[in-house]
Amino acid sequence: MRQVQTLGLLGTGVIGGGWAARALHFGIDVVAADVKPEMEAWIRGAVDNAEGALARLTFAPLPPKGKLSFTTDLERMARSVDFIQENIPEQLELKQRILAQVSRHAPRDVIISSSTSGLMPSDLQRDMQHPERLLVGHPFNPVYLLPLVELVAGKLTSDETVEAAARFYAYIGMHPLKVRREVPGHLTDRLQEALWREILHMVNDGVATTGELDDSIVYGPGLRWAGMGTNLIYHLAGGETGMRHMLRQFGPCLKWPWTRLEAPELTEQLIDRMVEGTQAQAAGRSIRELERLRDDYLVAIQQVLRQFNIGAGATLRALEERLYEGRAAAARGALEAAAAGEAPALLRVLETEVRPEWVDYNGHMTDSRYLQVFGDATDALLRYAGVDDAYRRSGRALYTVESHVTHQGQARALEPLYVTSRVLEVDDKRVRLFHALHRRRDDVQVAVAEQLYLHVSTSAGKAAPMAEEVRARLAALAAAQAQLPPLPEAGRLAGRAPR
Ligand SMILES: NC(=O)c1ccc[n+]([C@@H]2O[C@H](COP(=O)([O-])OP(=O)(O)OC[C@H]3O[C@@H](n4cnc5c(N)ncnc54)[C@H](O)[C@@H]3O)[C@@H](O)[C@H]2O)c1
Repeated sequence: MRQVQTLGLLGTGVIGGGWAARALHFGIDVVAADVKPEMEAWIRGAVDNAEGALARLTFAPLPPKGKLSFTTDLERMARSVDFIQENIPEQLELKQRILAQVSRHAPRDVIISSSTSGLMPSDLQRDMQHPERLLVGHPFNPVYLLPLVELVAGKLTSDETVEAAARFYAYIGMHPLKVRREVPGHLTDRLQEALWREILHMVNDGVATTGELDDSIVYGPGLRWAGMGTNLIYHLAGGETGMRHMLRQFGPCLKWPWTRLEAPELTEQLIDRMVEGTQAQAAGRSIRELERLRDDYLVAIQQVLRQFNIGAGATLRALEERLYEGRAAAARGALEAAAAGEAPALLRVLETEVRPEWVDYNGHMTDSRYLQVFGDATDALLRYAGVDDAYRRSGRALYTVESHVTHQGQARALEPLYVTSRVLEVDDKRVRLFHALHRRRDDVQVAVAEQLYLHVSTSAGKAAPMAEEVRARLAALAAAQAQLPPLPEAGRLAGRAPR
């Protein structure tokens, strides 16, 4: 299966737009195909709308954004991409026909994944050429913020297809959940439907309004669900004997049962109650306004969960670890050669570009992003020395105690940049680094930073000696770089007490 550089989208509505925003953000080019030419403006708008929240999701170093193009020629799209995500309306015959058509034009090693909310992959792959490359990759709205994607194989799907799709989805920051057996509605939509069916009954019977039913989730179970699912939460509710006690206590009432299996008739009266109820909840706020609110709290929740390394927070953490490691890996060979005296001692530890969301009202890179870029350069250099996630998990870390940034030039949106770094000093508890940020097009130096880091034991909460091998690697680099010309900007403030 292919390394995915270009994602093809078949159908560019709500879900296609979400896939586009996510893929572009993580550096994948997108060719979006839809039968309606007016969807080009729509998908570009959808990508712009998603950008604000996506840009706040992580500060880890991202690759340059992907490029978006649009076509109404489905076959041209199929011939020119590495992976196809189908997002056309939920109608089996339409999907079967279009998937079969596209499969005649997409090269054999191009995976074709369907966003279907509930159709079975065995039905979808029926008329396709090379049906072994078809699977279901079912996302959740908004696709650009929710990491879950359910992977479902059909009877003819190969294991290799599922594995390669899982790798691609993880690459763009998602949590691929492999569904063991195809069932209508996969896993999540069956659960969501069960809840919704009961909501419809209770609104129909006049037991509660849509707002009251939403409150019954939002103030209670909803908060628990973000970190632990129903089963683990019920295990906790059973006291010392956990799930066993829980089933003994509440098992009998499951037989009554409280809830119903068939949805109520969708009468005009029920539809009106649902619509009026949700309009009252919206309280005059537009869909766009509510989307922005939803996106903002979805970002914030994931950042909180990241601290506990659970659920969507664990996915975010794994993504960030990969992004930092990817950046560091690019510089590792050069750092090793420099420390051994086999290559120029002044080296580029980071290549990046000014992302559009980094610019201020003057159109230049804003000052907080300079610190971020210098921080990424430090991360790459320290990872080379051995300070990685495993090192931090062992209770040791380097804390920034002083940063001194001098701005000497400007960088505009999309400007390619690189950072050269030097180890000025290292002892058993301190490292002093010097970074210079350059524009790639003319090598002009736009800023320098001198930073002092203190090695700490995170459990004891105080300075502690760094691992011998970390110090040795940094010291070898410092010795090799001592031959370089002196730095006029160094030593102005960093590490010195104020006069
Ligand atoms: N909306 C959701 O919350 C959600 C969540 C997960 C999965 N899904 C699934 O994603 C799929 C798309 O749903 P949506 O909500 O984005 O629908 P949508 O109606 O917003 O978008 C469908 C798009 O497909 C285009 N289209 C129709 N026929 C086409 C064809 N022959 N070739 C190319 N494009 C064609 C339409 O012009 C439209 O732009 C469905 O299978 C749905 O079940 C939806």
